[in-house]
Amino acid sequence: MAQVRLDRFLAEEGVGTRSEVKKLIRSGRVRVNGADVRQPDCKLDPEKDSVEADGKKIGQTGFLYLMMNKPGGVLSATRDGRTQTVINLVKESWADKLFPAGRLDKDTEGFVLLTNDGMLAHRLLSPRRHVSKTYFAIVSGFVTEDDVRLFREGLEIGEKRKTLPAQLVRLTVDGDFLEEKIHHPGVQEVKNPDAPLLVSRAQMQEFCMRGIALSDYARCGEGECCVAVAVTEGKFHQIKRMFEAVGREVRFLKRIAIGTVCLDRSLGSGQYRPLTEEELNLLRNTEA
Ligand code: URA
Repeated sequence: MAQVRLDRFLAEEGVGTRSEVKKLIRSGRVRVNGADVRQPDCKLDPEKDSVEADGKKIGQTGFLYLMMNKPGGVLSATRDGRTQTVINLVKESWADKLFPAGRLDKDTEGFVLLTNDGMLAHRLLSPRRHVSKTYFAIVSGFVTEDDVRLFREGLEIGEKRKTLPAQLVRLTVDGDFLEEKIHHPGVQEVKNPDAPLLVSRAQMQEFCMRGIALSDYARCGEGECCVAVAVTEGKFHQIKRMFEAVGREVRFLKRIAIGTVCLDRSLGSGQYRPLTEEELNLLRNTEA
């Protein structure tokens, strides 16, 4: 990594303005690799050198990976003049290093990966890699076997080509048995003898069990049904447009998995936590 000036490094890490950090350095409150440094133009390598200001370690955050449960009404963007973004919800000092790996619509909730690892984000989003994204949706009417077949065969949604095969699974939710349904989510067998499943039945069941909260099921009103959908593309409003193509309206949408990594249901709306080592490895090795 290129060498940078100490005052610039401290300012970029949010320690203070350029003139404030110069004063801080000159007053002997900054140490580089354990030694007092009083020259603001001292050069350092942020990836190798250790910097402390007033005894507090600065920088060297390396790669960062957060799983966030995005609330509705928040943009999956880094910054926006008017609307709150997922990055605004991160309270850590290094929040501005992060960006969301992929976009969800403003009204869509659920799993957003926040990272500063551009390579991993690219791999997860690249259309050529076909990494599956799985959603919980509440849609109007009652999803039929025909809809399941049409999703599998591909739908015309106004793009050059039909959508790639998607896996639509109906979830049987009965208000009286919500708790039981969480433990046995009632994922119906997809009659899909030829096409391989994007997400195995066991995995889909796990996603539903671990990624969907009771409060999500509870949003399902009269004349609506709950489904899980796995797709390997990320076209604009893809899920909403696919349901539109079969005459249905998406009333609620929540992403519950990226590849084989499932949203942690214990994360409340807007909450986040670091990915575990295991989740990170799963994402790194994710391929359809
Ligand atoms: N499909 C949609 O329609 N919206 C999203 O936010 C994600 C997938």
